[in-house]
Amino acid sequence: MFLGDVELSMEKLIINGGHRLEGHVKISGAKNAVLPIIAATLLGQDQPSILDEVPALEDVHTITEVLRKLGVKASFDTAGHQLHVDSTAIDSCEAPYDLVRKMRASFLIMGPLLARCGKAKISLPGGCAIGTRPIDLHLKGFEALGADIHIGHGFIEASAPEGLKGAKIYLDFPSVGATENILMAASMAEGQTVLENPAQEPEIVDLANYLNVMGAKIRGAGTNVIKIEGRPKLTGRAYTIIPDRIEAGTYMVAAAMTQGNVYIENAISEHLKPVIAKLKEAGVTIEEDIDGIRVSCSKRTKTVDIKTMPYPGFPTDMQAQFMAMMAVSEGNGLVTETVFENRFMHVDELKRMGAHIRIDGRTSMVEGVERLTGCQVKATDLRAGAAMVLAGLVADGETQVGYIHHIDRGYDNLVEKLVGLGADIRRVDQ
Ligand code: UD1
Repeated sequence: MFLGDVELSMEKLIINGGHRLEGHVKISGAKNAVLPIIAATLLGQDQPSILDEVPALEDVHTITEVLRKLGVKASFDTAGHQLHVDSTAIDSCEAPYDLVRKMRASFLIMGPLLARCGKAKISLPGGCAIGTRPIDLHLKGFEALGADIHIGHGFIEASAPEGLKGAKIYLDFPSVGATENILMAASMAEGQTVLENPAQEPEIVDLANYLNVMGAKIRGAGTNVIKIEGRPKLTGRAYTIIPDRIEAGTYMVAAAMTQGNVYIENAISEHLKPVIAKLKEAGVTIEEDIDGIRVSCSKRTKTVDIKTMPYPGFPTDMQAQFMAMMAVSEGNGLVTETVFENRFMHVDELKRMGAHIRIDGRTSMVEGVERLTGCQVKATDLRAGAAMVLAGLVADGETQVGYIHHIDRGYDNLVEKLVGLGADIRRVDQ
């Protein structure tokens, strides 16, 4: 439901805390891998792309809707987690505000549209709950590839009537979105592109793998230099999305906080090294095998210090969940956020539940308390929402989490998965 410019969710989560999580949970495909990969399907000619392990998330519906606005045929089998995208014909290069404002990642269609159609017009993404999030690095990349950029009337227009040309590009900061947009644009540019200081996240590697399956020639994804040899044409293909390391990390923290014992199927330990290291430091037992990770914890966790960094550093998308864990851990710890400004919105909500946290600039000081108390809180953004659910799982009494449309953007079947592990959580209409 929309009220003016504010989107309100009519549902909330009710959690009764104090249940130990036990059992087995299966991790879905990665949100941050599938969104750029869906954008990249725009590059596929000749035949449709068939994507498997696509999580049933609001963000996936939104980007699929953006593609439909461009004239692309897309059908999503949410139960089967399969998305068919037929981009053989594209009849518009313009993405409207009503969809772009719902999800900044819509801007990921600019690179593929420029490459495929020689032009793109996208509504400016605007602000966001976790900082201003500029797109200057994306635009600098497109310009280096020979595009003209024009900003006005709330839109960004890019055009390259003669086609894009390979270039050497250095990113001032390893932006995930800028790396992805440049990878997609350069895949069909003439000649070679060398991208220095790119983001190295597993989701970048997944996108590069899919582009290579489509016929692109990309080398070095996941390292600090990516080389792309442009190809005149790419073809739609079948591809399976990697598991979501942030969803996995969230269940790992849930198991630790509830002093539970949970096997997290599909979690890839290689992608979760900093999360695993910090959980071990907090006193949690982690056993890794080829299919997943078992997390068990028999006593109250200890606080740790964390500092978010681009991959392979500690992920900013796990910061709020760790803060929830530290809020009930033994001792004092520091949480430093270096990737985003203003990503401490969950602090006030955790404090409402009795947490002792003080913010000083980009650092939060957490003094662990024995117990949190359930109350009404809200999901201020996606991961902040996850943190409130985690806090609710261990709080005394009932916690009500509102604004859960944020959580639905990024967690596939959260309630069902937590109930399967023994949590007392349900979704109700406000
Ligand atoms: C992606 C993830 C998001 C994650 C983030 C960092 C998706 C869909 N989203 O977001 O979940 O939290 O990576 O791991 O994959 N920046 C600039 N100029 C730019 C682009 C970014 O200054 O042109 C800054 C941003 O303001 C921010 C930082 O770089 O402070 C990181 O942003 P970026 O890596 O681009 O994140 P996203 O791709 O938006």
